[in-house]
Amino acid sequence: MTIGREKPHPVSTTENPFPVGFRWGAATAAYQIEGAVDADGRGPSIWDTFSHTRGAIADGSTGDIACDHYNRFRDDVRLMAELGLTAYRFSIAWPRVQPTGRGAPNPAGLDFYRRLVDELLGHGIEPWPTLYHWDLPQPLEHDGGWPERDTAQRFADYAAHVHHALGDRVDRWTTLNEPWCSAFLGYGSGEHAPGRRDPIAAVRSAHHLMLAHGLACQAIREANPSAEVGTTVNLYAVSPATTSPADADAARRIDGLANRIFLDPLLRGRYPADVLDDISVATGLDHIHPDDLVTIAAPLAHLGVNYYSRYVVARSHHDGPLPLSHGAWPGADDIQFAEPHGPTTDMGWAIDPAGLTETLVRLHRDYPAVPLYVTENGAAFDDIVGPDGRVDDPQRARYIEQHLGACLDAISHGAPVRGYFVWSLLDNFEWAHGYSQRFGLVHVDYTTQRRTPKTSAHWYADVIRRHRLSP
Ligand code: FCB
Repeated sequence: MTIGREKPHPVSTTENPFPVGFRWGAATAAYQIEGAVDADGRGPSIWDTFSHTRGAIADGSTGDIACDHYNRFRDDVRLMAELGLTAYRFSIAWPRVQPTGRGAPNPAGLDFYRRLVDELLGHGIEPWPTLYHWDLPQPLEHDGGWPERDTAQRFADYAAHVHHALGDRVDRWTTLNEPWCSAFLGYGSGEHAPGRRDPIAAVRSAHHLMLAHGLACQAIREANPSAEVGTTVNLYAVSPATTSPADADAARRIDGLANRIFLDPLLRGRYPADVLDDISVATGLDHIHPDDLVTIAAPLAHLGVNYYSRYVVARSHHDGPLPLSHGAWPGADDIQFAEPHGPTTDMGWAIDPAGLTETLVRLHRDYPAVPLYVTENGAAFDDIVGPDGRVDDPQRARYIEQHLGACLDAISHGAPVRGYFVWSLLDNFEWAHGYSQRFGLVHVDYTTQRRTPKTSAHWYADVIRRHRLSP
């Protein structure tokens, strides 16, 4: 099937241009789908607290029930098998494993993930757990949260517990999901849990998340030197709005704060000097200890890239009040983000597949070699259930097709792209947007919990089937 194109896209033809062993996946995160927030000894996380705070979530909803995946995971794995997924990226809820964020693990919490992993393996689907997709145990936030160095050590202990429980059946580990969001939306703009608005806390958090990643790599590799451990960052293509030197500098700064602030320590073992200069004005940097960078730059088995859109930025020319989101960019109050000109998703994010190619090729060109996986990519659209019960979403299939095409373009430029995970398997709790944004391949009726694969799910299953069958 070809979506909205005259000529067949290489993604939709019978030839297989993807490398052997390419992972065809979909992704979710614990708090967005599991529900069952009080089950089997789970403790509260910062997202439980935040979502129950008046005004924090656009539609006033919480993740208390979400997709009830905790109770329905076997059905959901069956859906994945029907789609033909070869890998499933999910996250483990820290507060299920350590309800207070420290101390002995909760066996019932670990058992849930054992059952899930066994179910996946039983269906021939490779489990890709992420250890941290934003649900910090609330007691650790009470003790200071990510701005405190000790939280990184707590994370390494937690990682060791999970690895001890699941290391016999999971080969590939991802430490963090999108440290930018944890640090800068959680502690800078306050749009995400724990909802703090403190640029210094945000900058400290970014470093402690990196340190947490490095310490967790160490902890896992101490237990199993051949464990494959990587991490996932959200990257953006960044362009200046005009050719003016001021806009070029704005693009350099936003690229620094969004991308290089994580890529350089992970892959080069140092922070970019220009970014340190840009943020030190606002913060001071005594939380970065000299040996930390060695820990952070431990070799990565893979780098996960979450890609959604491009930023077009300009030096601001007006002095009006700044939008809340500016708190997410410490020291960049004089930079404006342009409204997208072209098509957007329901999130208002510009649809820009070329930005994905650019991002992957840039990683290949500018950084030491590391296997790359697109661990999230997808689109929210206002899906409607038709009178016949079907959900027809050609625009989502088209979005995925374009971005798979962007991966192929990157591969043809030499970028080692080894897999692609659609965000998301299911419609789910989209953080501060609540249930108002639907990203799923599979529609979820939140009243009945009925799952309906959308047209895009059938299309994706078809693409996977053809690529897996062809030599
Ligand atoms: C990413 C998050 C994921 C989801 C998508 C839309 O930033 O990792 O949980 O919210 O955006």
